[in-house]
Amino acid sequence: MKPLDGNNNSISKLTRRGFLGASAGIGSLALANNKLFAETISSVYPARQIDEIHGWGSRPGMVSIGFNENPYGPSPRAIRAVTDSIMDVNRYDFVAYTNLENAIGDHLGLEKDPNPAFGANPLFGKSLYPVYVEGGSSFILNQVTMLYGVKNGAGEIIEIDPGYGGVTRAAMSLRSQFGAEIKIKRIPTTSKFVHDLKAMEEAITDNTTLVVITNPNNPTGTLLSYQELERFINNIPRHVTLLIDEAYIDFVREDNYETGISLALKYNNVIVTRTFSKMYGLAAMRIGYAVASKSIISDLRASGNSWGLPSINCYAAAAALKDLSFTRQVKRLTGETKDYFYRELDILGLNYIPSHSSFVLVNVEEDAQAFQKKLMEKNVRVRAYDNDAIKNYIRVTLGTLDEMQVTVDVIKEELKA
Ligand SMILES: Cc1ncc(COP(=O)(O)O)c(C=O)c1O
Repeated sequence: MKPLDGNNNSISKLTRRGFLGASAGIGSLALANNKLFAETISSVYPARQIDEIHGWGSRPGMVSIGFNENPYGPSPRAIRAVTDSIMDVNRYDFVAYTNLENAIGDHLGLEKDPNPAFGANPLFGKSLYPVYVEGGSSFILNQVTMLYGVKNGAGEIIEIDPGYGGVTRAAMSLRSQFGAEIKIKRIPTTSKFVHDLKAMEEAITDNTTLVVITNPNNPTGTLLSYQELERFINNIPRHVTLLIDEAYIDFVREDNYETGISLALKYNNVIVTRTFSKMYGLAAMRIGYAVASKSIISDLRASGNSWGLPSINCYAAAAALKDLSFTRQVKRLTGETKDYFYRELDILGLNYIPSHSSFVLVNVEEDAQAFQKKLMEKNVRVRAYDNDAIKNYIRVTLGTLDEMQVTVDVIKEELKA
């Protein structure tokens, strides 16, 4: 198992020149056509006014930091993979997603299965690792809820609050569409906004089917250690399936942080999900994956629709996975803008929850939904929640440096108003 990239503890001082150099590094690979060239050039000169902002993939004059998207665009290599394969889409491509599953297994350093089975059809080739690719990790959360959240039409799922709530939503839809009797227990975080593992354990009953841990958590950005996770797994009954959602794990800066992947391989009631929507900048391509025991992977395969995944999306994801310089840069820039944002929040005297992810939850000391609307009127899109525990908090995705500078200015103006 490879540990996550060690963080450069030396968070380089955020100078305009350093930032420009780094952004240009990302952009320089992307000079595939004139449009990209123009956008790359415009994105490396930090704007100081909101109407000068033109973020990747968003309309000019808008700071879009509400959906935890990657502000640096897709990996240039992913763009190249799309342009290289687009001419061949008149042909069925039977192997694109199996190749992506195998590329993910290689990337994670997993052990090859000595007896790999063919996918759904021999034409699709052999998946060499216990990896399953789907159209977005949201789809896998739905599958897991359906497969393991309900037994004989009933079930009990446990999820953190505030949390992402994907499994909660899936369970609610099973309730309303199929009359499944699923109880949903949302367990409040600790006062430090971390998963309250003790309370989650205590909430488990004989009827509990599925427990979800989002690590780092969305929207709080808090992180559990490998040891805490493994202890939790050993304390919960084996009839309970544990889903560890690692959508933001690539942003964790701890040196040698060990992810949940090896737990999914060691314990046959544990599933880890990940996505290409965040670090890899491919949100609209809808690619996510799961790592779990062979038997869970074959359940997912039997109930899924990988064959529905466009081949070009699979090629893009496989190329993005290999673009280590892009992911290193995104991680470094996200860390640097996070530190910049923290410093500015400290100056403003606003509290925030230190985040292990690509977003920060900020206490604006007033009704966050009203505050969000005021920012939106100024073309800054952040997220607020209808949730008492965080009713004064906005979730701010870390955009590019210029987007964050403009956001800080707009927050300042609103605080004064
Ligand atoms: C914690 C978490 N899990 C899963 C997802 C879904 O990601 P995907 O784009 O792969 O469906 C998100 C998206 O924001 C998320 O925040």
